[in-house]
Parts: sequence; C-alpha cells; structure tokens
Amino acid sequence: MGKIKVGVVGIGNCFSGLIQGIEFYKKNKSERIGLMHEKIGKYGIEDIDFVSAFDISKNKVGKPLSKAIYEEPNEVDWVKSVSGVDHIVVKESPILDGIGIYVVNKINPIKQTKSIKQIEKESIEEIERTGTKILMNFLPVGSQKATEFWTDIALKTNCGFINCMPVFIASDKTWAKKFEEKKIPVIGDDIKSQVGSTIVHRVLTKLCMDRGTTIDKTYQINVGGNTDFLNMLERDRLESKKISKTEAVQSQLSKRLDNKNIYVGPSDFIPFLSNRKLAFIRIEGRMFAEVPFNMELRLDVDDKANSGGTSIEAIRLMQIALDRGIGGPLIYPSAYLMKHPPQQFSDDEARNKLDEWILSR
Ligand SMILES: NC(=O)c1ccc[n+]([C@@H]2O[C@H](COP(=O)([O-])OP(=O)(O)OC[C@H]3O[C@@H](n4cnc5c(N)ncnc54)[C@H](O)[C@@H]3O)[C@@H](O)[C@H]2O)c1
Repeated sequence: MGKIKVGVVGIGNCFSGLIQGIEFYKKNKSERIGLMHEKIGKYGIEDIDFVSAFDISKNKVGKPLSKAIYEEPNEVDWVKSVSGVDHIVVKESPILDGIGIYVVNKINPIKQTKSIKQIEKESIEEIERTGTKILMNFLPVGSQKATEFWTDIALKTNCGFINCMPVFIASDKTWAKKFEEKKIPVIGDDIKSQVGSTIVHRVLTKLCMDRGTTIDKTYQINVGGNTDFLNMLERDRLESKKISKTEAVQSQLSKRLDNKNIYVGPSDFIPFLSNRKLAFIRIEGRMFAEVPFNMELRLDVDDKANSGGTSIEAIRLMQIALDRGIGGPLIYPSAYLMKHPPQQFSDDEARNKLDEWILSR
C-alpha cells in the first residue's frame, strides 16, 4: 500500500483523467513533463492510493473502480487500464441535487431506495474500513446539498477535504470554522487548471497592472463538449461557478471592473469537442498617454489533463498538512491551486509562498 489514502466522490472525467495520468507516470518512470512538483516533501505521485469511491450512476456504482472510470459518459482514454484499484468497489452516494436536467439521461442514475441516514452510515463505515484519510470532491456544478453532505462526512471521519468544484466550503466562513475547530485541513474551492483559462486570464491581467496600464473591459468565453459543460447549460446551477471564475480575474485588478465591463463564464456546449476546451479571452485597455490597446487569445486545451495536473498537487499538499497536524483552510495551497480560495494572491506570490510553506518544517 502507498502512503496517501484518498477517497473520491464523483467518478467522472476529472477523476478518470487523474487516475489515468498517475498510471501514465507509473508506466513511464523517467517522464516528468507535466508535473508542477516531482516530489512534495517526501511524496511522489506513486505514493497516492485511491481506496474508496462514491457515485450515483448505474454505470459505475457496484463496479470495480478500474472499470467505472471508463464507463459512459466518461471520455478519458489515455491508458488502456489502471492497476491496483480492481478491489475498490464504487459505493452509492446520495443523489440530492447532484444531477442537472440536461445530463440526467447521460448519467443514468440509480434508483435510490436507501434513506440519506442509511447512506451516511454506510459511507462512514466504508471510509473507516478502507482507512481513507483524504476525501476529494468532484461533484457536478450546482451540487450544493451533495457537497455539503460530503463535507459533513469529511468532518465526521476526520478526513482532509479537497473541494475541486465551485460550492464554497474552504472559502465560506462557517464551514472554514468547522474545519478549524476540528483541526481538519481543507483545500478549496474550484480547481484552477494547470494552464487553463483562469490562470492565463489572471496572469495577463496582472501583466497589464504591473506595466502601468488600465483594463476597461474584458471577457472570457469557454466552450467544451463533456458532461461538465452540458450540465452548465442549466443557468440556475451556475451561480457559484460564475462568481468563482469572475472573482479569480477581478482579484488581479488594481481597481475592480464594473459588472457590465467583465464577462467570465462557461458559455456553451459543443458535443464533438469532448474533453477539449476552447477559451476565448479579450482584454481592452489603455496604456501610455491613454492610448487604447486590445488583445485576444484563443486557448485549446484538454480540460481533464488540466485538472489532473493541479489535483495531483492538492493531494500531496493535503497529506503534508495531515502529517503536520494543521487544521482549517490551507491558505497557500488553496491560493495556488484553486480559483476561489479563502485568500487571493497573484499566482507568482502564491507559488513562492506555497514553496516556502512546503519547506517550512
Ligand atoms: N478543468 C476541469 O475539468 C475543472 C476545473 C475546475 C472545476 N472542475 C469541476 O470538477 C467537477 C467534476 O468535473 P467532471 O468533468 O469530472 O464532471 P463529470 O460530469 O464528468 O463527473 C461528475 C460525476 O459525479 C457523479 N455524480 C453526480 N451526482 C452525484 C452525487 N450526488 N454523488 C456522487 N456522485 C455524483 C456523476 O455520476 C459523474 O460520475 C465539476 O464540478 C467541474 O466543474 C473541473
């Protein structure tokens, strides 16, 4: 067994990419391209073990994790098989508000007959039986109640919680206090992709500020073809995602833009794009002598490689916090790895502070 024991909620494309990426590096031992840190403290990626898994899809619940990650509507297929997770059976999670109207047919949910209390009891037993020490949340956008259910489970089972999606937990004062009181670490919220639209938009914004210009208007339009993007067509589920993505950019401006001058959001679903995501970013501003300028950028990335490259950091940083007995929101890991952390820094500053934090004991 490895040294980091992780449980996962939501066996969708993000998790499938994460575990297939780990398998890729295990099979290609000299390959280190794509990793922000080869080792974090004493932990390499081979030290990560997935020991429990929870979902609500008929295609996944009751199946070995090694099979569930390839089930529809998942689309990641970077490696043919993953090792070491045949014996992990995907367990039932409560559906609550996990499924949006546009994805219900693709997700194919189980018929839920157990009470929430019963699922809670069984989930806690599974976490304890498997020795899970870290819970990762990959639930769909809009899963407020389901995320709160699993946050509560993390608190009840003393698991470090990594919140990869945009329901506010680490950045919410009430939840943060609960993690502080129980001395359990939490990283969140909403994964900031490795080289995704958020970090690119932030860095360009910061560049304009550092070079003394002003930004008058900006937009970031994202399109993709997986269930994440299909789900986000349901505008009512999007509120916290829009806040998370918009604040990530606003936080880099020396003066906030009026809402009418900034648009940042997932904007459409194009089925044939699959896990490819296209982002279109435009910045309009003024430079020396108030002379106007503008720039446009088109980013074409695999959204799941992008999320895996960040998640792999969060898991090892979480284990370091557990080893050190640190509780509450992890400020620097969250600032570097998440779009909506408890405290925003520039990405340079967050990286420097994070590296100091890693070496600090
Ligand atoms: N680059 C990125 O991919 C990126 C970046 C930031 C945030 N995120 C967020 O990460 C999350 C996961 O993304 P994804 O692409 O894996 O989504 P996905 O649609 O592929 O997977 C979601 C999984 O959750 C399961 N699910 C739904 N309701 C559930 C419930 N109540 N309990 C347990 N499981 C449930 C579904 O069956 C599915 O397996 C999304 O919220 C997404 O916005 C992704």
